[in-house]
Amino acid sequence: MRQAAQGAAHARPRAELAVADGPLADRVPNQRPFSLADRWPRNTSPDRPCVRFEGATQGMGETRLATESIVSPLVKATLPVGLYKTVDSSLRKSLPVGLYKAIRLLGKEIMLHRLHRAGVKRAKAYAEKRGLKLNIGCGPNRKEGWLNIDLSPGAEFSLDMRERIPLPDGSATIIYSEHFLIFLDYPDDVNHFLRECYRVLESGGIFRVGVPDTRWPLLEYAGLGDGQWLHNCKTGEYYRPEWCKTPLDHLNYHFRAETEHRYAYDFDTMEYALEEAGFVEINQCGFDPALDAKNREVGTLYVNARKPSAVL
Ligand SMILES: C[S@@+](CC[C@H](N)C(=O)[O-])C[C@H]1O[C@@H](n2cnc3c(N)ncnc32)[C@H](O)[C@@H]1O
Repeated sequence: MRQAAQGAAHARPRAELAVADGPLADRVPNQRPFSLADRWPRNTSPDRPCVRFEGATQGMGETRLATESIVSPLVKATLPVGLYKTVDSSLRKSLPVGLYKAIRLLGKEIMLHRLHRAGVKRAKAYAEKRGLKLNIGCGPNRKEGWLNIDLSPGAEFSLDMRERIPLPDGSATIIYSEHFLIFLDYPDDVNHFLRECYRVLESGGIFRVGVPDTRWPLLEYAGLGDGQWLHNCKTGEYYRPEWCKTPLDHLNYHFRAETEHRYAYDFDTMEYALEEAGFVEINQCGFDPALDAKNREVGTLYVNARKPSAVL
């Protein structure tokens, strides 16, 4: 699942970034008031990396979570390998569409619950650890020296972030998540997740989040962009399934990615959710090559927030 959006040149101009001490310090002032007349500069770099929207089958390989990517998980979870395909196809033929889809979803949730339970057991080894660095919803982008967490078969550390994080209060110095939050239902699961991150972070700890910046495709759809986003969708630079033809198809795919994406963000929405969870110093940031994946540079909204330091 790869993502879209603007790149180094599409992010706020580098010159505006107040780079202070360290990779997390490159903050830009909050971009308010929001003006529809704002235009994103065109990225004309010839060596711009080929990026894809989340939802792409390519790139995520076996870590893809979509219901569609798991062949009838309920059947798969309960039958010996080899039999499930036969049973799945006979279920597909014999059941009403809605019931068949519900069974697939149930199967997927059973499989995810098993993965999560295994992760919770593993997390016991970290009960006394402090100073952890968590990379949540990492997919294939693992970070050396971090706890790389994802809910998918093959993940280094499988945990469901809709559940309680099985780590002690104040045990992490930094929590990072890139193109993950869009997979959680808003507001309930998102609020729960952010409050859990707040709990697990130590006082003064950093939460850095990257999500597709939905402002860009919306501006483009309204005719206020330079056409680059739509061009990228149409030319396959961002993954799109065959059925995406019109600009609204592409916009729908940005929001929904079949059914995988649960919510879309701009800075204001992200800031509000982080404030609600108790975070302070919430700032939109530039791309940070020390932390962020190169293929996410274009069009990602990066935000840093801090858990307040303990009041003595
Ligand atoms: C679009 S991928 C992002 C992967 C990587 N961070 C990147 O930017 O390429 C989203 C990831 O979130 C994971 N994910 C989705 N729902 C999750 C959940 N409830 N708990 C933990 N991980 C989840 C998926 O398995 C997937 O690997």
